[in-house]
Parts: sequence; structure tokens; C-alpha cells
Amino acid sequence: MTVSSAPGKVYLFGEHAVVYGEPAVPCAIERRATVSVEVRDDSRVRVTAPDLSLDGFTVEYGGDGDGRPDVNVAKGLVEAGIAYVDAAVEQARDAADAPDAGFDVTVESAIPLGAGLGSSAAVVVAGIDAATRELGHPLSPEELAERAYRAEYDVQDGQASRADTFCCAVGGAVRVEGDDCRRIDAPNLPFVVGFDGGAGDTGKLVAGVRELREEYGFAADTVESIGDLVRHGESVLADADPAAEPTDELLAELGRLMDFDHGLLEALGVSSRTLDNMVWAAREAGAHGAKLTGAGGGGCIVALDETPETETALRYTAECQDVFRAELAPDGVRVEE
Ligand code: MEV
Repeated sequence: MTVSSAPGKVYLFGEHAVVYGEPAVPCAIERRATVSVEVRDDSRVRVTAPDLSLDGFTVEYGGDGDGRPDVNVAKGLVEAGIAYVDAAVEQARDAADAPDAGFDVTVESAIPLGAGLGSSAAVVVAGIDAATRELGHPLSPEELAERAYRAEYDVQDGQASRADTFCCAVGGAVRVEGDDCRRIDAPNLPFVVGFDGGAGDTGKLVAGVRELREEYGFAADTVESIGDLVRHGESVLADADPAAEPTDELLAELGRLMDFDHGLLEALGVSSRTLDNMVWAAREAGAHGAKLTGAGGGGCIVALDETPETETALRYTAECQDVFRAELAPDGVRVEE
């Protein structure tokens, strides 16, 4: 059996605009998805995923000719979860040139599904890593990122950037612009995450932004403004000492840009009342800045605050179901003992 894990991520800036070739800066965080894979001696796939839906699920499929799930899995999050695991299995079979390989797969994740923390990317990256290692064909983090991107692209009907999968595969802070993906230096920023207990539908939210862009020139300008904001944020990060504690000036400037980014995302229609309420609770508690993270529509916000005030305020905010501090994760995908 091989066990691999990959981290979730928050977007410091740039989600949605990255789909249109603008730059984005996601940061890997110490909340991981762990995927255990064991090769079977037939071509079936058995997936057990206690954390990918509210009730968890086990599903077995394949070996009957069509390669698709042959049990009737529930809709919604379970379907989404199985689709990502299925796409990861296909990528691993293809990479190892083993089209008939069967696997027992167990997914455990501390990253809420569809909440903007890169849960699907982490599951796909860790799943491809564990399955290809089981088949004796390990891939580099960059190869894993590319395979995981193709898996997400298939599941999300072509509406995916490389940002989530690259960040989960290599860890740390990264910069993604089109197919140019690389790690960048960044100090360990004091991220606080607030979670409303919900999830957004990435495909629908991305499609909504596409429609707005097509309908209104000023929506296209809004997407470009996010790109300009990210470029400015990058120059701010580049001037910072990655080995030192972030200075007050750095946090104030990054926070200001996060607030601005949230406003632009809100204008593009991807925020929600619960996300806005958590953002405002964080700002009123003295956070340097706060914004939604990921596709939006529900799920998580990320705030910047080195004091305990934002965590405390979010804990007493009706819309917030969970709050935690998120350390930057220096490791991307890795094998677990
Ligand atoms: C979703 O985590 C981030 C989006 O920018 C979509 C993508 O980049 O694939 C909304």
C-alpha cells in the first residue's frame, strides 16, 4: 500500500481571473488530503471516502466492461468526490501505461469539499501520486501537477486553471499565469480561515463570470483589474524578506489588496451573504484584510491577522461554522509513512 498526502490552499489573490490568463498567487496550507492506494489483482476500483460527503461513502466499480461506477452513488458532493477520484485513477493508469490496473483507494481529508481550499486538487494530486507509485511509476511534482490539472479540467468541463493543482503538488506560495507555474518566495503569512459550512459549485461560478465578461466590457475590465492587482501584490511580496516575520507595513499593504480583490470578486457575482458577513466580521475585528478564497458562492474566507482577534470574532459570527489558523505548507505532495 502507498499513502500520499497533498495540502489544501488559500488564494492570497487572483482566483477567477486566473482562468482568463491573468496571474494568481495561491498558497498551500497545512490542511491535507491523504489518499491510500493498494493495487488489486483485478481491474476493479474500490473507493472509500469517509470525509468526502456528510455521511462518507464506499463505492466499487469497473471490471464490467464500461469502466464506470456500477453502483448508484448519491448525487451532489458524493458524485463530485467520486468523479475526481475516478479522474485521478484514469491519469495514473495512463501515466503508468496500465489501463487495466485495479485499486483499493481510501481518501481521508481535513479539507472541506468545494469550500475554496483546494480539496479536489489535493485529492487528485495525492491520488495520482499514490497510484503511480503503487504501479512502480512515480512522477515528479511537476508531472503530477500537469496530470492533476488534466483530471480537474475533465471533471469541470474545461473550466479549470493550473493554479490549484500546481500549488497542491509543489507546496509553498506559487505564481500561476496561464501554463507558466512556479514557486515564489513569501514569508509565513498569518492566515485565518473562516468556513460557513457550505460549498460553491465551481463550474457554475466560473460559467457565471464568463457570461458577465461576454455581456459587459466592464466585467472584462474587472477581470483585468484583478490581474493588475495581483501583479502589484507580487511586487510587494518580492520586496519582503521571506525568512523574516512579516512587517506591519507588508501586512497592511497585502491586506488592503485582499480587501480590494474581494470587492472585485463581489462585483463579478461570486461572493455570498455568508462570505461577505465573515469578511466584514474579520475586518471589524482588526484584520489587515479579508477576502473569499477559491470559487466563492459559499465556503471559506481568508483573513490576515497575527493577533487572536479575528479568530475570536469569527467564532462569534453566526454565519461561521469553523475557524482555524492556517500555516503556509512548505511541502507539496509527499509520501506518508
Ligand atoms: C477555484 O479554486 C479557483 C478558480 O479560479 C477556478 C480555477 O482556477 O480553476 C475559480
